[in-house]
Amino acid sequence: MESTNASSRPRIAIRPATPADFPAIERVYHRAYRGLEPYAYESHWTPEEREKYTREYLGWAYEEDPEGFFVAVEEPSGEVLGFVSVHTWGEGRARRAEIIEVAVDPEQQGHGLGRLLLDHAERYAKSKGCTKIQLWVGSENRRALEIYKRRGYREASRYERWTKMLKDL
Ligand SMILES: CC(C)(COP(=O)(O)OP(=O)(O)OC[C@H]1O[C@@H](n2cnc3c(N)ncnc32)[C@H](O)[C@@H]1OP(=O)(O)O)[C@@H](O)C(=O)NCCC(=O)NCCS
Repeated sequence: MESTNASSRPRIAIRPATPADFPAIERVYHRAYRGLEPYAYESHWTPEEREKYTREYLGWAYEEDPEGFFVAVEEPSGEVLGFVSVHTWGEGRARRAEIIEVAVDPEQQGHGLGRLLLDHAERYAKSKGCTKIQLWVGSENRRALEIYKRRGYREASRYERWTKMLKDL
């Protein structure tokens, strides 16, 4: 487990997620995507469908690679403030990683939690022998695009409303 205590900010720990964290993870996801709904939901979905899809999507992200799903929690309360999911696959020089999802509760954004989570995800991918890491981001999700570009990701391709970004590890 990794933890930090920046000045007066609460102490934050990054730890592997467990199934018990998922109600909190889903809440963070719904809150983080306010204003970015086209990148989280289909426009015709009812609120119940949004809940159902989110549960299935995040459950899939976890089950595909439980080791690569991390939460940022406030200490000592244990409240989940953000999360990241990374999948790794392939062999030898072709080993790759993908950031499937990263989100921080809106009230906690802009204080370095996203950076902590992304640093952790990239270190995890490297520790698994991956030489490249990729992700798909909404093409108009300017804040996230800017963050990734500053971290050295470059645009690799576009598909519908998504931009694929790639970085050498
Ligand atoms: C993307 C997201 C996870 C970033 O989390 P965060 O906690 O706000 O990020 P941080 O505070 O660590 O900021 C990360 C970097 O972006 C910079 N930054 C912060 N706000 C910014 C803004 N509005 N525009 C550009 N850069 C910004 C920070 O200075 C920091 O740079 P540094 O790493 O060089 O210090 C968060 O905004 C979020 O949950 N967004 C909604 C969900 C989403 O879009 N996920 C991405 C899916 S691909």
